[in-house]
Amino acid sequence: MRNLKNKVAVITGGASGLGLAMAKRFGREGMRIVLADIELERLNAAVADLENLGVAAIGVSCDVSRAEDVENLAHRTLEHFGSVNVVCNNAGVAPSGLIWEHSTKDWEWAFGPNVWGVIHGIRVFTPILLNQKEEGHIVNTASVAGLMSFNGMGLYCTTKHAVVTMTECLHHDLTSVAEHVNCSVLCPAYVPTGIADSERNRPEHLQDKRTKSASEMEMEKNLKKAVESGKITAEQVADHVLTAIQEKHFYILTHSKIKPAIEIRFQDILLERSPVDTSKH
Ligand SMILES: NC(=O)c1ccc[n+]([C@@H]2O[C@H](COP(=O)([O-])OP(=O)(O)OC[C@H]3O[C@@H](n4cnc5c(N)ncnc54)[C@H](O)[C@@H]3O)[C@@H](O)[C@H]2O)c1
Repeated sequence: MRNLKNKVAVITGGASGLGLAMAKRFGREGMRIVLADIELERLNAAVADLENLGVAAIGVSCDVSRAEDVENLAHRTLEHFGSVNVVCNNAGVAPSGLIWEHSTKDWEWAFGPNVWGVIHGIRVFTPILLNQKEEGHIVNTASVAGLMSFNGMGLYCTTKHAVVTMTECLHHDLTSVAEHVNCSVLCPAYVPTGIADSERNRPEHLQDKRTKSASEMEMEKNLKKAVESGKITAEQVADHVLTAIQEKHFYILTHSKIKPAIEIRFQDILLERSPVDTSKH
């Protein structure tokens, strides 16, 4: 999609981090923006931020794990802007801890935005994009955690592997029916954002009152440190996403230094050996 001027982008998890950076980058190309999020104060501030930059934008309160919220998001987008061209299913949360120590509420919580959010985004928006004459593009935010597996990140990795295969299947399905709608999967490594503080948005009914184990607290601390140490900024990730939309790139790997570790994981599979701990390489 070469010319983005006046095109409409819907970005979930758009109130902060990668989503907001994408919104600002797309806005600089003249796109009109719909931000969707559950963190309403930040959502309103983000919309005001975009408007101050001269970008036409609206914010929609939306919990992407709820089918009806995503359906309403599409409705509000079409009602306000009349069309939609780019959909970024980006909202996500990042719990950490030993995989067997997560409660069922932890699993339900993370699967909500990370997996169901992408399912609803694909289910609701793909038919709309296919039925339009204009070009469309869907960008699903996964992670390198969707291409590899890490100690202490089992729940997160499970959700992100789901997003990678969902988007690969979406690509095959789209290719079989149309040429004007494309998709990409975004797989960054660490980027300093609010992701290590995801509990801030955990819905009341999925709160877990149990006391966290020592290992869980240690792993949360490690994740926070790792995210803060990320050398690639959200703005740089947004540049990659823009290029992928313009040039129809499917895989968006923003951190090239991690590619050898990804290769080791695929060699593990092909050589049928036990998974190598690439964090020690
Ligand atoms: N920052 C990183 O290091 C990194 C690396 C790889 C992938 N990612 C992925 O990038 C995406 C964006 O995260 P970020 O790093 O910008 O973190 P962030 O916490 O700054 O932004 C995530 C946004 O998602 C929103 N959100 C959470 N649950 C939601 C729900 N149910 N419905 C709607 N919105 C919801 C939050 O309110 C927040 O605004 C996530 O999918 C994350 O897994 C991040």
